[in-house]
Amino acid sequence: MIWYPYAIQKNLIPPIKIIRGEGEYLIDENGEKYIDAVSSWWTSIHGHNHPQIIEAIKSQLDHLDHVMLAGFTHTPAEVLAGKLVELTENKFTRVYYSDNGSCANEIAIKIAHQFFKNQNLDSKVEILHFSKSYHGDTIGAMSVGGDSYFTGVYREILFPSPEFISPDCYECPYQKNPKTCNLECLENLKEYIDKYHEKVFSIILEPLVQGANGMVMYKEEVLDEIILLCKQKDILVIFDEVFTGFGRTGKFFAYQNLKNTPDIICLAKGLTGGTLPLAATLISDEIYQKFYSEDPIHAFYHGHTMTGNPPACAAALASLNLMENENRLKEVESLNLAFNRLKDDLGIQYNSLIKNIRVLGAIFAFDLLEETQIDRLKNYCLSKKVVIRPLGTAVYLCPPYTITESNLNHIISTLKEGLNLLLE
Ligand SMILES: Cc1ncc(COP(=O)(O)O)c(C=O)c1O
Repeated sequence: MIWYPYAIQKNLIPPIKIIRGEGEYLIDENGEKYIDAVSSWWTSIHGHNHPQIIEAIKSQLDHLDHVMLAGFTHTPAEVLAGKLVELTENKFTRVYYSDNGSCANEIAIKIAHQFFKNQNLDSKVEILHFSKSYHGDTIGAMSVGGDSYFTGVYREILFPSPEFISPDCYECPYQKNPKTCNLECLENLKEYIDKYHEKVFSIILEPLVQGANGMVMYKEEVLDEIILLCKQKDILVIFDEVFTGFGRTGKFFAYQNLKNTPDIICLAKGLTGGTLPLAATLISDEIYQKFYSEDPIHAFYHGHTMTGNPPACAAALASLNLMENENRLKEVESLNLAFNRLKDDLGIQYNSLIKNIRVLGAIFAFDLLEETQIDRLKNYCLSKKVVIRPLGTAVYLCPPYTITESNLNHIISTLKEGLNLLLE
């Protein structure tokens, strides 16, 4: 008996049983085809069951299912690590594998902490985070996520991490707009770092878009400023690119939109094109050098049983090939144009119903003024075989990059029909 995640157990609506995936379609046991407008928790960047990824997994399974990445290695893990490093133009030189985004972040936090320990800098004990951030559901990841309805019940068992008001360029905490903004949202953080930098080892953040807390978007300058500030004060910057990696913001990695580079990035979700669980934490050479030692106390003691699983690595390699060979970033660009047209369109028609229409790369989002209307909109879309999964008041689209024009148009017209229904 399955205990389904994020679900109120009593009176649970039976979930839809999916038996097949094909492109942007999820197909149920009755043959009904649903368009996956959110890429199954933002993973299926090439659509479901892409034949080249499936073939890569099958062919890997003909040779090697799994081997522990301790005392042993294998080609898919080696080639994939090389490929990821190459994609960052050697800004990051080491790849630490795990199986999911939460663990990729926990690994980053532990490495950042130990980086200073390995230099006998014991005072650095704090990691900072933003109030609207989400970094996963494990205890460590929750500790550095924004305090929320979902994490509140565990508050007493999380480790302490100072929280700062999130940047949010659509719901600015300082009532500024892009023209009047002087990065006021960073004032508290700056003050804290000035005063307490000796005890801070890191800050973790989701670059440009804080996904799970409602597709909260903010501008690049905020990140460039944070990186500069942290470099001056010997604080490591971790970018959680679990959502933003692999093209979602328009660049291969979100940090590539910036002038400055963080010290660690965390990848998962789209890494295998949404086929198998795999995550990677990418680390700069400067950090790695502090672990390059004969002293056992300087080693990094962290591992998961399925770390660097061969079929998962093969899937990731096939996915990266598709990103390049089929020019997925061009498709992200087309989606971006379509979403910007939709933004203009919706803005005029529905301003009594929605606000903060926003677009970043292949992400489209707005907020409904009334949270109570969310379920009606979601259910209407589902009745038209369009899967959306709003977050609080935020309704968003995040489809596979490969979605056909006609299915994208179907999603858009369904969304408008749903909004018309709410206007009645
Ligand atoms: C930015 C970000 N970080 C971390 C995670 C957690 O990843 P996982 O669910 O694979 O543990 C998520 C999941 O939604 C995410 O969006």
